[in-house]
Amino acid sequence: MPKIEIDGKPYEVAEGRTLLQAIDDLGLLMNGVEIPHYCWHPKLSIDGSCRLCQVEIEGVPKLQIACNTPVRDGMVIHTATERVATARQGVMELLLLNHPLDCPICDQAGECKLQDYAYEYGVPESRTQEPRRPAKKAVDLGPTIVLDQERCILCRRCVRFCREVPETGELGVFARGDESVLDVFPGRQLDNPYSMNVADLCPVGALTTRDFRFRIRVWFLDDVESVCAGCATGCNVLASRASNRVYRFVPRRNDAVNQTWICDEGRLSYKRVAEGRLDVATLRRRPASFDDAIGHAGLALREARAAGGRIVGVASPLASNEDLYVLRELLAALGADPGVFAVPRGEGDDILLSEERAPNAAGARALGFAESAEPVGRAAVALVLGHELAPAALAGVEQVIVLDSHASDVSAGAAVALPARWHLEMSGTFTNGARRVQRFLPVVEPRFEAYARGEILWRLGGAVGLDGWGGEYDVRAVSKRLSEQVPAFRGVSLATVGDQGRELG
Ligand code: SF4
Ligand code: SF4
Ligand code: FES
Repeated sequence: MPKIEIDGKPYEVAEGRTLLQAIDDLGLLMNGVEIPHYCWHPKLSIDGSCRLCQVEIEGVPKLQIACNTPVRDGMVIHTATERVATARQGVMELLLLNHPLDCPICDQAGECKLQDYAYEYGVPESRTQEPRRPAKKAVDLGPTIVLDQERCILCRRCVRFCREVPETGELGVFARGDESVLDVFPGRQLDNPYSMNVADLCPVGALTTRDFRFRIRVWFLDDVESVCAGCATGCNVLASRASNRVYRFVPRRNDAVNQTWICDEGRLSYKRVAEGRLDVATLRRRPASFDDAIGHAGLALREARAAGGRIVGVASPLASNEDLYVLRELLAALGADPGVFAVPRGEGDDILLSEERAPNAAGARALGFAESAEPVGRAAVALVLGHELAPAALAGVEQVIVLDSHASDVSAGAAVALPARWHLEMSGTFTNGARRVQRFLPVVEPRFEAYARGEILWRLGGAVGLDGWGGEYDVRAVSKRLSEQVPAFRGVSLATVGDQGRELG
């Protein structure tokens, strides 16, 4: 492994990497080693066009761009010399020459790399008085993205993304020299299923999503680590919230899962936190208090148990590992068979989107639930955690008790329906299709009475009169118990998976 020195500190780096890649591999880029960069992106090909990443290398007369200079053993690099600072100032001055003074009305303000780098590495005043080059504002690139050509710094990240990831190539840089502009190819639209990633990639306010632009200033938002529940890939996201409202998902880097991308469908799935919710408990299809509904459900289970009636469990691939583990424990305590679950499916692709349109089918399998969409047969009571199994499959059940985050035909016809939290409203873990257990943290509080499915089941166990059930519910304790008692989950719990997840044994 080549040994190099950066600003007086020794590092060992992987063979065959460029300097910027090697520093990124070490986790030090802009996090200990400050090399500002625009065109370089860890998951795209190298462009070498912005020239901002120049560094000084001992024995090399000219400054070199770190993004396209291969590391070699013994290299001594300086990132903070006067020559480097002057070069950065020059690049920033050129980039700002034609940049409009839009910050007060630009939606990127507050998370703009041109603002940040101008402040850190630029010069405080402009040396030009000439008018800035005009270009087109608010250009419709397609259904999801709006372009401001004046703000574009021509880093071509968006162009490379469309060519290299969805391989649709809708974008290009047209004309030459200071006439150059970014645009879609004539007759095309930017409408691929991953189109909105270009807004995350764009270092400035040139590309913004129609969904998020002008909805809130970003400094009012704070970001919470979560995962997308749209499919079995479990892309890592940051959920941005303000005033108990979720405003957007943006991708969170996880090289083992989603690189730095998410699909458009998953990105917009944050809206489900406010759409179609099961927002009131019902008892025989009439609104009821949560306590009454739990009391009735507990009585139904107790009577079925006393009469030797069959109790069936229907798990859900939308429920967390912890919720499913509590269901497994409850079914065992009630003397019921291990439950079943069904998985919704759609079309997948070979980028990220999985055919399994649920986040935790692998968790349900690892916890011993059998996949089946067949009717559950005759039973006194069914405990149902979702709505993936069609109501017809529950036709032989006398009393259906549903715990769900969203309303459905199943909850509409249930004897008891209990509102459950969606994953953005609770802590827990999902196991993705590659058996990686990933955690999510609470982003918002529900606007109605709702609890995690595991907590409802815990209270239900208390209402049935099971020993040790009921009382305070602690998801961390459940997660710990799960990791101790289910061999596949050994050592894998909410407390140990960290922000990048961990594979099941
Ligand atoms: S629109 Fe943004 S990402 Fe695309 S070239 Fe311009 S600055 Fe770069
Ligand atoms: S690929 Fe799946 S998990 Fe990833 S963002 Fe899309 S729907 Fe969500
Ligand atoms: S980041 Fe190296 S030239 Fe742009």
